Amino acid sequence: MESINLGILGMGTVASGLINIIELNNTKVVGSINKQLVVSKVLVKDVNKKRNVNLSADVYTTDAYEIINNADIQIVVELIGGINPAYEYIKDALNGKKHVVTANKALIATRGEELEQLARINGVRLLYEASVGGGIPIINTITENLSANEFEQITGIINGTTNYILTQMTENGLEYEQAVKEAQRLGFAEADPSSDVDGDDAAYKIAILSSIAFNQRINVNDIPKEGITKISKEDIVYAKELGYNIKLLASASKTNDEIELRVHPAFIPSDHPLSTVKNEFNAVFLKGNAAGEIMLYGKGAGSLPTGSAVLNDIVSIIKNECRKYNDGIINADKYKIVNRAYKK
Ligand code: HSE
Repeated sequence: MESINLGILGMGTVASGLINIIELNNTKVVGSINKQLVVSKVLVKDVNKKRNVNLSADVYTTDAYEIINNADIQIVVELIGGINPAYEYIKDALNGKKHVVTANKALIATRGEELEQLARINGVRLLYEASVGGGIPIINTITENLSANEFEQITGIINGTTNYILTQMTENGLEYEQAVKEAQRLGFAEADPSSDVDGDDAAYKIAILSSIAFNQRINVNDIPKEGITKISKEDIVYAKELGYNIKLLASASKTNDEIELRVHPAFIPSDHPLSTVKNEFNAVFLKGNAAGEIMLYGKGAGSLPTGSAVLNDIVSIIKNECRKYNDGIINADKYKIVNRAYKK
């Protein structure tokens, strides 16, 4: 049976999830693509570190170009995150005519258009389902399953870390700082949690979703954004007394020739479906002009859920099923981006 060789850049939570799923669901995956998936090289910082995956020691390398320039590797999976050097690695991999799968929301939100064009020029795929919503197939739903719709609204809880923190403050009476520590202990929040708690992570994600749903160029800096750092236990208690929960919402709505984007904490009535979205779970409401309202719900972060989205992109590339993806981040300035939430 033919093999497809994967090179993985990075060996964190998502990479270990991906490697474990390839092993766990091997029969199913091989059956669907009729090819063996081989993890042939993994970029790490320290080749001698003990890891919770079943790979032989010679797979590890500290040189990214042993993957990017490796003629036997067909698909490069970028899981190091951040802009640099991920941007240079992905660019070089695409120019080397390798397909790329990434979970990198900061990079796709800010340089996605350029990288998509590069993929198109080189006749390869750049897929990024795992960049938004962890295990929830949100990008595929927008680009594939709801492609017959004009979108009017996208609203959701798309940051698992802040949702975990707010849930712990609401349900277990934790102070903000305690809840952040707990999120860090469980591996949801980074040692420096600012990207999540300041709302940057949610802003990157709503920028990606809006650009593909509305076919519109979105500059992430145009999104009014407020995080959860100023929310106290008292705010949560008062909200509860009034019949509300506080959630960090990201939203994009389109009316005529305008799109309004926002990321901020919001009062959600306790009986609203978004109030039932707890801990690291995410939920996204989509409103299409034909399908109407659709809500997707699932684990928005974590090793296996996010690894599942990455593996699905790999399978899509192998099956050549990603028809519209590379028209994703479209180069259009069709709508006016308005800011009614905050004065600049
Ligand atoms: N930091 C992100 C979150 C991880 O908490 O949602 C998944 O994108």
